[in-house]
Amino acid sequence: MLVADNWKDYEVIDCSAGEKLERWGDYILVRPDPQVIWNTPKTLKGWKRPNAHYHRSNKGGGEWEFFDLPEEWEINYPLAAGELTFRLKPFSFKHTGLFPEQAVNWDWFSGLISDAKKADPSRQIKVLNLFAYTGGATVAAAKAGAAVTHVDASKGMTTWAKENAAASGLADAPIRYLVDDCVKFVEREIRRGNTYDGILMDPPSYGRGPKGETWKIESSVFPLIEKAVTLLSDDPLFFLVNSYTTGLAPSVMSYMISTALKRRGGHTEATEIGLRVTDNGLVLPCGASARWTP
Ligand SMILES: C[S@@+](CC[C@H](N)C(=O)[O-])C[C@H]1O[C@@H](n2cnc3c(N)ncnc32)[C@H](O)[C@@H]1O
Repeated sequence: MLVADNWKDYEVIDCSAGEKLERWGDYILVRPDPQVIWNTPKTLKGWKRPNAHYHRSNKGGGEWEFFDLPEEWEINYPLAAGELTFRLKPFSFKHTGLFPEQAVNWDWFSGLISDAKKADPSRQIKVLNLFAYTGGATVAAAKAGAAVTHVDASKGMTTWAKENAAASGLADAPIRYLVDDCVKFVEREIRRGNTYDGILMDPPSYGRGPKGETWKIESSVFPLIEKAVTLLSDDPLFFLVNSYTTGLAPSVMSYMISTALKRRGGHTEATEIGLRVTDNGLVLPCGASARWTP
């Protein structure tokens, strides 16, 4: 299990009975988490007086209850290549605009990019980030010196990613933001003959492209992996697939990547990722990542 232990501005304080108690900078949130099937006493004061609480409704979805929370606030992440700043806003489906557990991947691929830049400072490193959301991975790769192509179906998320880049001092960095369906984009890049040194994807379980294209991870992810690996350059750095879909085991993800990259050899490792619970030192599982390096 890879644990995102470098955060200073974020922590899972406790978790019980389908919920997690979190600190996001100076603010305490209570949000649902389907992984939390245990029921331990909620004695910590944060449970009783959070700054906001997202209540899941049994009809799906849910709503926020605000006590004392700004509409927006910022937190920082100490990436080795330089500090990242993220803008947070409570919005639909309990989201805040960031998946803190992804820091384990930000640290990993930004280290590979930094090493490659050190080895050849004149080398231009191209990274493709699919299902890129608010750009956590995009700003990490750009901070390490890569030129990033950021693809997501949502215009709102892409605007938010630009805000995170600006907040992280990357407003002028070589980042291409595209509002597009990831499958269609990859197919077009294959026709264009474009290649990338690093490719990452963090698809949702279920999603829709800008024109309603349906994404269902069980049936869509392997065909997309097979297509996306053909975009890897002749001197690739990494290929990464992350999923927080319950039931998509790390071994399934590594099987798919090893199959798709058989011709290239290399090394694939897959593992669960998680966040440490500061009240008891245990780890809250947050999905899985599979990583390939040449
Ligand atoms: C939850 S996010 C992924 C999290 C993100 N990788 C991160 O850690 O920052 C899933 C994203 O996939 C996007 N999405 C869903 N279906 C898509 C599709 N067919 N093509 C492109 N983006 C899609 C959604 O707009 C959403 O921003």
